[in-house]
Amino acid sequence: MKKLALLCTILLFISCKKDEAQKESLYPETQKTPQQIQLELGQEIFDGKGNCFSCHKPDQKIIGPSITEIANIYIEQKGDMVAFLKGKAEPIVDPAQYEVMKTNFSITKNLPEEELKALEAYFFSFAK
Ligand code: HEC
Repeated sequence: MKKLALLCTILLFISCKKDEAQKESLYPETQKTPQQIQLELGQEIFDGKGNCFSCHKPDQKIIGPSITEIANIYIEQKGDMVAFLKGKAEPIVDPAQYEVMKTNFSITKNLPEEELKALEAYFFSFAK
């Protein structure tokens, strides 16, 4: 009897495992569009090593302007956010507060082009 119970448990375990594998294969990594992958990278940097989240929120001004406000202005004025983050373009959103933003160039200047573009894409995804 004990053996039977053990066998059932094992069978149950195996069938659950299979289920999980099937679920995963419905949404394989490769089905993400390049845009999705870029946005996810942008968000990862924004929330992680970029530390951008501590001064920028999606819809609300805290220390820095909201992501939506920045995105709208950059799209409207065709600003080059990648150049700005490299310290190579003038501020166009809130020049009076530029000194505060400038402190982050020590981080953003060292990010590869691909990651700066991902940050830009992430910002632009909040444009309204
Ligand atoms: C210490 C607070 C702080 C952090 C951290 C911060 N920002 Fe800012 N950011 C600001 C402030 C203040 C402004 C407004 C000044 C300005 O427009 O340059 C700003 C403005 C901006 C602008 C608009 C620049 C313009 O043209 O005027 C962009 C783009 C931006 N931040 C991106 C980022 C990104 C990306 C990160 C993370 C790597 C980040 N910020 C982290 C405070 C911060």
